[in-house]
Amino acid sequence: MPTISFASSKGGAGKSTSAVLLATELAERGTTVTIIDADPNQPVSRWSKKPGVPNGLTVVANATEETLIDSIDEAAQKTAFVIIDLEGTANIMVAQAMSRSDLVIIPTKGSELDAIEAVKVIKFVARQEKAYQKKIPFSVLFTQTNPAVRPRTLKSLESDMLLQGIPLFDVAIHERDAYRAIFSYGGSLSGLNTSAVGGIPAATGNAKKFVAEVVALLKKQQSAEEARVA
Ligand SMILES: Nc1ncnc2c1ncn2[C@@H]1O[C@H](COP(=O)(O)OP(=O)(O)O)[C@@H](O)[C@H]1O
Ligand SMILES: [Mg+2]
Repeated sequence: MPTISFASSKGGAGKSTSAVLLATELAERGTTVTIIDADPNQPVSRWSKKPGVPNGLTVVANATEETLIDSIDEAAQKTAFVIIDLEGTANIMVAQAMSRSDLVIIPTKGSELDAIEAVKVIKFVARQEKAYQKKIPFSVLFTQTNPAVRPRTLKSLESDMLLQGIPLFDVAIHERDAYRAIFSYGGSLSGLNTSAVGGIPAATGNAKKFVAEVVALLKKQQSAEEARVA
């Protein structure tokens, strides 16, 4: 069952937000999901203590270097998806999570300085591939982008990355108040109060596109793997 990690070399890239969007949307489609909170600051665990966590979604808190691999293996037996939210550093848990991942999602804001950080994570993935002697698929996800305009700086970053052969998500996670609101109020986008939070339909559409692209990417990888084995 697919294991997906969210990694970045510093905080604020949008890992926890994107991880919770993916997990809640999958769970609301009727899939079982575990999110393992492997960030010592425990942002996902704090979110899960608020009301509105969808059925089918389990949160495993307080992962440590000693427990992470076992928690991943156990969760993979129990639920259809395992999502790991990591701290924004290159620590042992990040390496362990990558070693078990079918996909590493690297969220980044759309600036040159943030893109440099994303490249650091890609190099870290490459080192784990060597260490564990396995392929670790990854893809860069632009986050907190402006829904109204796609600035020229972002376009040029995207084309630079594509030129370097770096896999990128077609979808970007836009900057939306609704994405902050799920951490303030708890639960998922569908549980937010429309009179308290604006732009929920647009935020939901954006999140669904992201989830669809993750699922399509995993399916493509799986078919390629089956073709290779056959
Ligand atoms: N797409 C987004 N729209 C609005 N706010 C966002 C978005 N992504 C992240 N944020 C905000 O930016 C901050 C950092 O995001 P977070 O997901 O916690 O990043 P990370 O887990 O990489 O440290 C949080 O305050 C979060 O609410
Ligand atoms: Mg986080």
